[in-house]
Amino acid sequence: AATVRYEAEASPAVCTGTIDSDWTGYSGTGFCNGTNSTGGYAQFTVNAATAGTAALNVRFANGTTTARPASLVVNGTTVQTPSFEATGAWSTWVTKTLTVSLNAGSNTVRLNPTTAEGLPNVDYAEA
Ligand code: GCU
Repeated sequence: AATVRYEAEASPAVCTGTIDSDWTGYSGTGFCNGTNSTGGYAQFTVNAATAGTAALNVRFANGTTTARPASLVVNGTTVQTPSFEATGAWSTWVTKTLTVSLNAGSNTVRLNPTTAEGLPNVDYAEA
């Protein structure tokens, strides 16, 4: 199936933080700068034509020198805890491909940071 891009700044996506545009290179009109806490999440509503395994591409930037891991929560269940490594600059965006199991139809995909530093800046998810 065709890959659809879900911008972090566009409803129905949820960003517990601010939508910023002060670092270049983002897609769409901005990116999610989640609050620097474990509560600062980014959530996407991802549609799948059929149930099964799908590639989830998450584009992010982490201008610190420390990874910002997050729980990947799909339809309420934590399925893995990817590490969003330092990318070298806040304007350097990297796409990480995660493998997820989706239901047919609408799925809720959330990144819940596991450290007090919160998420990297999140530009979009694609699936
Ligand atoms: C800086 C940067 C933000 C980033 C933040 C963070 O303030 O400008 O874009 O979100 O650091 O540490 O998360």
